[in-house]
Amino acid sequence: MTYKVLATVNHKSLDKKNIKQFKSGALAVAVEKASNGNDFVKHIKSTFFSSTKNQVIAKTIDKAVKDVSSGNITHAWVECPNVKINKILFIKQPDNKAELRKWVEMFTRMVSLANAHNEKELSIHLNDSIISNPFGNLVEVAARTVESSSYKFNQTKNKTVKKLPLSKVTFTSFQLSASESRNTSAAVKKGYAIGEGMNATKFLGDLPANHCTPRIIESKAKQLKKIFPKLKIKSLNEKQLAQLKMGSYLSVARGSIEPPRMIIIEYNGGPKNVAPAVLVGKGITFDTGGISLKPSGKMDEMKWDMGGAASVFGVMQTLARINAKVNVIGVMACAENMPSSKATKPGDVVTSMSGQTIEILNTDAEGRLVLCDALTYVKRYKPKYVIDIATLTGACVVALGQHASGLMSNDQKLADNILAAGENTFDRAWQLPLWDEYQSCTKTNFADLANIGGSGAGTITAACFLSRFAEDFRWAHLDIAGTAWVTSPKKGSTGRPVPLLTEMVLSSK
Ligand code: BES
Ligand code: MN
Ligand code: ZN
Repeated sequence: MTYKVLATVNHKSLDKKNIKQFKSGALAVAVEKASNGNDFVKHIKSTFFSSTKNQVIAKTIDKAVKDVSSGNITHAWVECPNVKINKILFIKQPDNKAELRKWVEMFTRMVSLANAHNEKELSIHLNDSIISNPFGNLVEVAARTVESSSYKFNQTKNKTVKKLPLSKVTFTSFQLSASESRNTSAAVKKGYAIGEGMNATKFLGDLPANHCTPRIIESKAKQLKKIFPKLKIKSLNEKQLAQLKMGSYLSVARGSIEPPRMIIIEYNGGPKNVAPAVLVGKGITFDTGGISLKPSGKMDEMKWDMGGAASVFGVMQTLARINAKVNVIGVMACAENMPSSKATKPGDVVTSMSGQTIEILNTDAEGRLVLCDALTYVKRYKPKYVIDIATLTGACVVALGQHASGLMSNDQKLADNILAAGENTFDRAWQLPLWDEYQSCTKTNFADLANIGGSGAGTITAACFLSRFAEDFRWAHLDIAGTAWVTSPKKGSTGRPVPLLTEMVLSSK
């Protein structure tokens, strides 16, 4: 299966000639503050509504544009009987064109208004402020937003649940040069693929833990290969992980009847001699805390503790979809963290693949235990850089809330590129320090490292732990505990940080 929601998302280049043949169910037009409509609106009016019969509609259009541009109302529908455009939705565009967030909100509203109107097809006009906006790639953001905001999770509901009506989006542009038009089409295609990747991530995250075990994720990766034969899938089972001496990784899965899987998706679309970017995702399909059991309130949310792995899955799918010319290795470190008579106990000491021994003082600090062995493993790829992505600490939610992912790195250039990728895609990260002073927190009398630090800076001490396994390459850690899902009332996966990661690996820095 793929995770496309909309059946098509396309770009259509309109000009003064072909606009006459233009047909659309609903057409959404963004209106700038204090404007009386742009060139496109003028052409629509003179092309379709100049006859006396349509004078009334032309006037209604003028009024709608005036009301929306003045801020009196946020949007207006104009019904257009007798013409090939059934209705037009005028919607206020952000006053501050640099604010990506506002644009994302606007495109999201277009989709929800179209759905509320029961529209199956929607055209969205890309005006000059969108096409030539210097902040981020707005066309790409638009296409990604229409696809990702059309997502709805129905998998575990009664099968009669209705799908949202909207299934086809056409982005229109007016009077572009041939090269601008090509760029716009490419951006639409890329954005649609990113939206699809986000939806894959959301879907895996939203699946309940009993529908999304490490073995189920393995089978989803194998299904992905059926659609995209270019992907190479490798999956390591318990025995193979043991042969690799991943004592730390295995200690997390010990208490569960569900065996762990480390699943690797390789995508080689770039030249052979170019070192790959490596993405490593935390894939705890359910985190009870283990013997250091979590309190029961909100524990259901720990089904999203594989959000890092799910984002890796989404990015790999996106790369394959657009035939990206890059080399990327995606690793999903999957396991279920359960208490049982076999489970790892606080104080147990295990030996990681790197040879370093770890005293597990808290079995709820399990993400770093699977990730550290995965980090040691990926050294073999001689990576250009490694980014791990993990719902790693509650402390990150306290520090940054739901808007920014926490970023820590051993390489400032890499960190800067990740921050920029986040800004460009409105999928932002915020850097926290990884100073030497913090490193002492993992000291213990009984092993080389302890898996928890003291009471302060939990997000940083977790990253300090990981940094001990990432000394041989450029590495960054993204703590997505606050950004991977939102809680009530819209409770569900967000598909983040797929936009950031895709932008990062495609920018090939
Ligand atoms: N998966 C959790 C982190 C988490 C908590 C993510 C809440 C999102 C919301 C992680 O495995 C965990 O339990 N971390 C502990 C670490 C502590 C024991 C050092 C935490 O944050 O409490
Ligand atoms: Mn935990
Ligand atoms: Zn966890």
